[in-house]
Order: sequence, then structure tokens, then C-alpha cells
Amino acid sequence: MQKRSIIRAAVAAALLGASALALAQDNVFKIGLILPMTGPFASTGKQIEAAAKLYMAQNGASVAGKKVELIVKDDTGTPDVTKRIAQELVVNDKVNVLAGFGLTPLALATAPIATQSKTPLVVMAAATSSITQASPFIVRTSFTLPQAAVGIADWAPKNGIKKVVTLVSDYGPGIDAEKYFKERLQFNGGQVVESLRVPLRNPDFAPFLQKVRDAKPDALFAFVPSGAGAALMKQFSERGLDKAGIRLIGTGDVTDDDILNSMGDVAVGVVTSHHYSAAHPSAVNKKFVEAFTKANGNLRPNFMAVGGYDGMRVIYEALKKTQGKGGGEALLDAMKGQIFESPRGPMFIDAQTRDVVHNIYIRKVEKKDGQLYNVEFDAIRDVKDPGKVK
Ligand code: PHB
Repeated sequence: MQKRSIIRAAVAAALLGASALALAQDNVFKIGLILPMTGPFASTGKQIEAAAKLYMAQNGASVAGKKVELIVKDDTGTPDVTKRIAQELVVNDKVNVLAGFGLTPLALATAPIATQSKTPLVVMAAATSSITQASPFIVRTSFTLPQAAVGIADWAPKNGIKKVVTLVSDYGPGIDAEKYFKERLQFNGGQVVESLRVPLRNPDFAPFLQKVRDAKPDALFAFVPSGAGAALMKQFSERGLDKAGIRLIGTGDVTDDDILNSMGDVAVGVVTSHHYSAAHPSAVNKKFVEAFTKANGNLRPNFMAVGGYDGMRVIYEALKKTQGKGGGEALLDAMKGQIFESPRGPMFIDAQTRDVVHNIYIRKVEKKDGQLYNVEFDAIRDVKDPGKVK
């Protein structure tokens, strides 16, 4: 008799423990943040992780009565790894949102998991136009290459640049940049005389830059992913292209704020178009840059950091609105149509495309107090992804 009641008590205690655990689990909102934290694209991971943590520090780790848990995983920039990690995060950790995605192939590899599990997937970095079409559960807070490339294609011919050679990394965003830059430049009366594509990994720019020199264009238009711009800039000057009178233009990925200062004076005067500069002159951005730099040993935030910071904002606001009810579909709906002021300027998540709409700025690298900055001098307002405007 006594033995039986002990067993009963033990079972009751175990059940209570299990339901308390379930309740605790229920009160946790999990964000699986998958990033390249090691390998050639580790700077993207570092920037986004730092920005996500800053957002949480500024806005609290508790939203709508739930504790927000950020689970950061390193995919090393390898698509198979990203996909496997996403699967584990969804099945084992039961994350509410997948986020991060440092490169286009990583986002594309994971898209089917978002669709099958109805988990919103927030793309904070990758920027090929077609990514948002790979799953109805994808929302993007980074940018698209067509958005960035058309800005400089409008600026160039008005500034004496008619004959251009393009040089891009040979994968999704590079191909987008090449296509949209060329179309827009031709529309504006300019001409692309040669299109060069370099490997994404460990590119040796030298033979390509020799071809550029031989073609004697007014300018070289370049896209390389965040982190690779310094090597391009160095070889551009070593090969004497600047001295040969060839200008360098591109999307802002080339004069990435993360590494701009390491490029030296060869970068001064380079004109690019992009959605974010650490020098963007707004109160919101000044506060963001100050807090980010302070929290990260003087590291300057780049456009990847801003994609991560705004991505966290979109997730937090969706959680506030849904109060954690209705699962992935409700959360996704609450992400669509958000409009707010980002450190980049005004920003909007288009409810139809789930893609970002924002200003594209024309910027020139200038030296201020011994530091290099992308100084904005013109803006094209509220640019939708030209890859989707039919
Ligand atoms: C991408 O892989 O989509 C990507 C990565 C880095 C960039 C831009 C695009 O700077």
C-alpha cells in the first residue's frame, strides 16, 4: 500500500515536472541564427551576430511574455551544412524563426525547409533577387543586387562614364549585378564593352584586371561579396588601373564599411551605390553606430550588421503583434508590411514580395579625421527590387 502511494506520488511529480517543462518551453521564443562564423565569409557572421545581440540588449530579451532565445550556429558558408543545421533547429530545438543566411546558396539550400515546416526564414544578408521566390516563408531585410546596381548605372553616364567593363563574382548576386547594371547603363546611353566573372572563392583578380586595362574603358564596374573588396582594390592599384585613368565604380559591397579603412587611399574617390553607409547622417544611425562600435571593440558596423539589426526588429515586432499565437503563418503575416526607420533610412517590407523596399544612396569614399567613409551625396527614394518589377 505504502509502496503504491509512493509510486503514485512519484508519477504525479514526474508529470508535474513535464508540464512545467512544457510550459517553460512554451514561454520561450527561439530564433535560430545560422551564419558563416568561420571561413572566408566569417566577417558577415561576426557583423550580424553582433548586431542581433545589440538589438536584444537594447530591446530586452523578453517579448509578449516570452523569453527570446537566440541560438547562433556556424555553417562555415557551406550550403549542405546550412541546410542540415536548419533541419536540426526546426526538428530538435523547435525554433520559431530561422534567420541569418550569409550567402545566396545558403539561403536557397534552406528555403524548402522553411516551406515544409512553415517556419518564417528571415534573410539578413543574401541578396540575389530570386531568393524571396524560393519559399513563401522567406522575408528579406538585407537588400537586392538589382536595387544596388541600377543606382550607379544612373549616375555613371551623367558623370562622363560611358564605356564600362564589368567584373563580378560568378554566382547569383554577381550575375544579378552584371545584368541590371548593363541594362540600365545601355538604357542611359552607355555601353558595357566586356563582362568578366571571377570565381567566388579565392579569386585571383590579376589576369582579369589585365584584361580591363587592355580594354581601356572609362570605368570598371565591380561586385564582389562583403569582405572581398580589399583584395580587389589592392590589385586594381597594383596593376596601375587608376593611373591609366580607369575609374572604379560598383555596388557598395566593394567599399564595405567593415574593411574600408584597411584599403588605404586608393579607395578615396570611389563612387558606389548602396542602401547603407555607416556615415548615413541620421540620428537613428548615429545612435546605432555609436552603440555597435562601443559594444564590439571599435568594430564599425557594415550593411550586413544593419540587415541583422533590422531583421531582429522585424521578428520582435511580429512577436509583439501575434503575442506568440498562431504559429509560423501568423508570425509571417505580421512581418509583412512592416514600415519603420532603420539606421539605413526609411524601410518597408513589401507584403506582396516579402522583400525590402528602401532608399539607394550614391556615395563617394572620402577621408574624414583620418578615417575612410562612404559619404552619401544623392538618393533614389523607396526602391523596390527591379528584379520583381515586371
Ligand atoms: C550573397 O551571397 O547573396 C551576397 C553576399 C555578400 C554580399 C552580397 C550578396 O555582399
